[in-house]
Amino acid sequence: MSNIAQEAARRRTFAIISHPDAGKTTLTEKLLLFGGAIQLAGTVKGRKSTRHATSDWMAMEQQRGISVTSSVMQFPYKDRIVNLLDTPGHEDFSEDTYRTLTAVDSAMMVIDVAKGVEARTIKLMEVCRLRTTPIFTFINKLDREGREPIELMDEVEEVLGIRCAPVTWPIGMGRRFKGVYHLLEDTVHLYQPGKGSTRQDVTEIPGLDNPELDAVLGSQAAELRDEIELVKGASNEFDVAAYLRGELTPVFFGSAINNFGVQELLDYFVEYAPAPQPHVTDARVVEPEEEKFSGFVFKIQANMDPQHRDRIAFLRVCSGRYTRNMKMRQVRIGRDVQVANAMTFMAAERGQVEEAYPGDIIGLHNHGTIRIGDTFTQGEELKFTGIPNFAPELFRRAVLRDPMRMKALQKGLDQLCEEGATQLFRPLRNNDLILGAVGVLQFEVVAQRLRDEYKVECAFEPISVATARWVACEDDKLMQKFRDKAYENLALDQSDELVYIAPTRVNLQMAQERFPEVEFHATREH
Ligand code: G4P
Repeated sequence: MSNIAQEAARRRTFAIISHPDAGKTTLTEKLLLFGGAIQLAGTVKGRKSTRHATSDWMAMEQQRGISVTSSVMQFPYKDRIVNLLDTPGHEDFSEDTYRTLTAVDSAMMVIDVAKGVEARTIKLMEVCRLRTTPIFTFINKLDREGREPIELMDEVEEVLGIRCAPVTWPIGMGRRFKGVYHLLEDTVHLYQPGKGSTRQDVTEIPGLDNPELDAVLGSQAAELRDEIELVKGASNEFDVAAYLRGELTPVFFGSAINNFGVQELLDYFVEYAPAPQPHVTDARVVEPEEEKFSGFVFKIQANMDPQHRDRIAFLRVCSGRYTRNMKMRQVRIGRDVQVANAMTFMAAERGQVEEAYPGDIIGLHNHGTIRIGDTFTQGEELKFTGIPNFAPELFRRAVLRDPMRMKALQKGLDQLCEEGATQLFRPLRNNDLILGAVGVLQFEVVAQRLRDEYKVECAFEPISVATARWVACEDDKLMQKFRDKAYENLALDQSDELVYIAPTRVNLQMAQERFPEVEFHATREH
């Protein structure tokens, strides 16, 4: 095996998907603890206070250091290198989340034992399903009372449409929580509360029939034996092939805050989660072990260092090896660039990376020339596909306070669009600048960044647009006819693609019925 193939094979690149409050941040901390990336859990980032209120979020963004470094966390575990890609917690940034999911090979789903499958989990699973991303499941907060595990698994199977294969099984919950039984290893792992901030060895008792269990668990031992018999009869076995096809998810139970059940999860994760996968391009499929470097940009974020106004483009390495000072081709603009100072994300510390392999993420300094979706290669003309733009659900018209600042406004909006912070639509019939967003907080962020970074004072007015669809038609003549007829409702997006902006959903439906030959797309690929 070549060095590149070896390095690729030991990478595990993933993201955690969950509904807010299920415990993603807590689990992240514990995983880093196992990776030796931090000594004491509790240091990843502030929680509640930085998450919910707008003003707090703004304050956090100002200390950009936190959000950039925690966007990608790399740590070694056993003989593997784990890359954990963070997704923003707030639902207003779900577009960012979706794009991040295009850069991972698998995902870990966290579910709150008391709440079960929640709205955002459903949405995120839909995205994972588009790319048949394999999924591990962690059911969290067993130290509290929650729903019956069997009932929860039924819900996952029914609502999320994925079969469950329990790997560990909880022994009681809440005050009666005693630990987990590992179905595949036939051992009981005993729970000790309050040991959450350090890495610890759990006490293991081998064998379900072991009399030691009765001594430790009392009457719960017999209950456990009965339950396991039931579970084994009623649930699926862990079938690795079905997991890799995204049809089945191995399920683990635990309490992230007490650092219990996490090691069992991580051990199986690094063993069975997929190594970097091949990637589709417009020209051919790129295999990770290829000698030549390639990758794509899935996220752009303002630099942590307020002294530098540049931005960081996050690139997922798809093949070959990145080395310092290498030359790469930015395919879209056909330019070769020498990259001397890419960022790495090892152990939550920002440093200069000397090498990176498939599955790794590197941060490129971007002075406005890199866009989301850009492909970088060692000269080959190809473009990675599948990085989507989503049709916004909220629209506002930008109103400039000082008309002399029009140029600055346009420049600012262009750059914020490149970053994916907002989407811009220019109607064919007038000079309006219409901003589109998936969440309302995006407008506030854009307004603030226009003020701070481009010295533009801008307000956003409501406008009667309900939804947008990218339109296309194979037949040029029919397209022209559609263009004439629907002129009033057509606009160009930031890349000059034609978009139908509908004042109401009913209007959109009618347009679709009126022009059956025209395709209306809710997403556009970069
Ligand atoms: P998120 O990133 O998915 O939004 O969730 P986060 O980890 O921030 O956890 C949400 C809340 O749930 C936090 O409490 C956290 O301490 C708690 N939590 C996480 N894992 C467990 C667990 O295993 N058991 C129990 N009982 N609670 C857990 P909070 O009060 O909202 O925040 P904080 O004040 O503790 O920071």
